[in-house]
Amino acid sequence: MSDFVTAFAPASIGNVGVGFDMLGLALAGAGDRVIARRTDNDRVTVAEVRGLDGESHPYLSTNAEENTASIAAQALWDAHGGAGSVELKVHKGVPLQSGMGSSAASAVAAAVAANALLESPLDVEALLPYALEGEKFASGAMHTDNVAPSLLGGLILSPEILLPKIIRLPTPEGVSAVLLHPDLQVNTAQARRVLPKSISMKLWLDQQGLLAGFIHACGSGDIELIGKTLRDVVIEPHRKGNVSCFDDVVAAAYKAGALGCTLSGSGPSIFALCRDNDARNAASAMEQACRAQGISCQSWVSSMQAPGAYIVGEA
Ligand code: HSE
Repeated sequence: MSDFVTAFAPASIGNVGVGFDMLGLALAGAGDRVIARRTDNDRVTVAEVRGLDGESHPYLSTNAEENTASIAAQALWDAHGGAGSVELKVHKGVPLQSGMGSSAASAVAAAVAANALLESPLDVEALLPYALEGEKFASGAMHTDNVAPSLLGGLILSPEILLPKIIRLPTPEGVSAVLLHPDLQVNTAQARRVLPKSISMKLWLDQQGLLAGFIHACGSGDIELIGKTLRDVVIEPHRKGNVSCFDDVVAAAYKAGALGCTLSGSGPSIFALCRDNDARNAASAMEQACRAQGISCQSWVSSMQAPGAYIVGEA
């Protein structure tokens, strides 16, 4: 059994446009690291939270009651830990309030690191409920669409009604995800409060059709059908106003050949699915459109089979 473990958990695209709160895609290239160390304390503690610049994070708390990483690790330790506890160091690589699953990445990395310090570590899928405790604190709701792909990688369907069952969906060859992060912030809890409590039967039917068609398209590799189905007729209309560059970025993505383009999670990030050959051009076009609005930004191009969380090192 190790005394020190470092785990990495990737960013993720929540909702994937068609599956509000139940569909998520891991994103390669961005993620959080958590270093866990065994201690003799009674409770999980947070020694530091650092940003990408290596400095103490200006907004995130080292109070273990208020940090998604420690909340997830504590939930795991309460259920399966023995004597003592763990101390965490959280190194954020995912921007906050970005629609990239930042809180989920910290919670997942912490659960994976703490798990590796247990006498009998659990299977990775069994960590989902513990990582979700951290996510629940951050966004005020128990949605799995970021936590599940960050933990397991790839494209994951995890409707609440089926939990703890989660479904790893096949992904099509030749399609990449492009994610643009405009330098804006959207608070997920607030972005959830503006959503309607109920929708019409017509909208429900339309979105059901898009979700079912999209899942079929991914499994069968029907790229034209991905283009037809990657649309959000329920949530996007209520949220796109939070992202001033949204319409221009989406138009630029389609012009560059994107199959579909919509908000990532609650935004402000915007993602597109593209044929592999179009992905880099689409990323540049989306960046240009965003900067033309005076908003700085960063983009990532990722396989649809990005790996989930993993242990980086043990000592
Ligand atoms: N599925 C959630 C939402 C979380 O859209 O509010 C997004 O990251």
